[in-house]
Amino acid sequence: MYASSTAAMVRLTTYADAREALRHRELREATHDEALFLLDNTVLVLHGDAHTRRRRVENRAFRRDILGHFERDQLADIFQETVGPFIEQSEGNLVEIAHRLVMNLSATVAGVDRPLRTPAETDRLYEFLKHLSEGATIIDSTRDKDEVRTEVLDALDAFKREFYSASEARRRALIADFHAGTIGEEQLPRDVLTTLLRYQTELGVPDDLLPREVGLYLVGAHTAANQITHLVHELLTWMQQTGDKTRVAAKDLRFVQRCMLESVRLNPPAPSLLRAAPDAEVVLRTGRSIPANALVDVDLASANRDPSVFGNDASEFNPRREVSPEVYPWGLSFGAGTHVCIGQEMAAGQPMDEDVAPEVHLYGAVPRLVYMLFEHGLTPHPERPPVAAGHTRRREWGEYPVAFAR
Ligand code: HEM
Repeated sequence: MYASSTAAMVRLTTYADAREALRHRELREATHDEALFLLDNTVLVLHGDAHTRRRRVENRAFRRDILGHFERDQLADIFQETVGPFIEQSEGNLVEIAHRLVMNLSATVAGVDRPLRTPAETDRLYEFLKHLSEGATIIDSTRDKDEVRTEVLDALDAFKREFYSASEARRRALIADFHAGTIGEEQLPRDVLTTLLRYQTELGVPDDLLPREVGLYLVGAHTAANQITHLVHELLTWMQQTGDKTRVAAKDLRFVQRCMLESVRLNPPAPSLLRAAPDAEVVLRTGRSIPANALVDVDLASANRDPSVFGNDASEFNPRREVSPEVYPWGLSFGAGTHVCIGQEMAAGQPMDEDVAPEVHLYGAVPRLVYMLFEHGLTPHPERPPVAAGHTRRREWGEYPVAFAR
């Protein structure tokens, strides 16, 4: 038995309490309770052994060799295909550019085929992404929630018809060929959908869950896309403040990765993550008590600015910040514990302190894409200022006009 919506609320604002709560096995994921109409039974909301089993299978699509292939061999093509038209027009809305970019990448990891690879096809997938993301983050929506739910379920049906069904059928046929011995394992796509289909019976995954689970990975793209815009904004502001007129900061990929970790700390994907307590009290190491059946508000925004961990300038963007080795430089923006973000290394790369050669180091899709945007002369738009998003309480940009100098 776990907390209901009328339960007492405990707010955790220090880094130590917040991290421990996210890692605590007794506390159940509850941020998405309002989004169960879309996310029920997906990896994001599963608990205990069922979560461990599903996660273990899906982790296979995020192995470092696969991520290295995406970063080094596929990202530049996706960039050209997606950003090329905006560079030709010399301007665009970064929010839209970022979503298109990361969506095409996430579609590949998730296992959603884009057979035509046309701008119209990307537009259509982008429409679904927006609806699915709005459904997953309905807890923070400022719109009429019944209206949102209806739109999201309609979009899910259309997504199944227009993208998902053909993607599933193609993978099922390939898996059958593999079992018949006519193709080798290396000819199977290395994505979440293929992995799930291969282990569907073992995991007991019903057919109707598959498109929603795959859709969840597109929602991950929404989070990563927002981080592209946040990182560009933080970098532009920082370069202006430090008088970096030749934009040296954006020409060093390793430094851009460092900037991303700092930017994601200051701009967590949601103000809070929720956890639900069981029907017994939970006491954290600091002595903080969480009463039976309480809801826990893990306040990411506060924990990530905890001065006892990040220093007195914790609210400022400082990519040269040093933190103790036990502390995540990105704060708790990727979560912690069993539900820690599966796409973290894909989006943000591997930890900076791992001793690997620069040519094999994973820098992450967000730093690499931002680096490429600056390489193409990205500057703030000379006439149109950025505007915050109006449909959500989350810290998101609605429009971020940029220009391309070459
Ligand atoms: C910078 C970008 C990203 C940020 C800040 C981020 C943040 C997070 C956070 C905070 C969680 C934990 C939620 C919780 O504990 O309640 C999470 C989980 C998750 N993320 Fe991400 N994410 C990002 C990118 C991505 C990408 C690119 C993907 C997919 C390709 C992805 C897929 C997922 C999935 C599937 C989970 C659920 C994992 C589980 O419950 O076991 N994320 N993410």
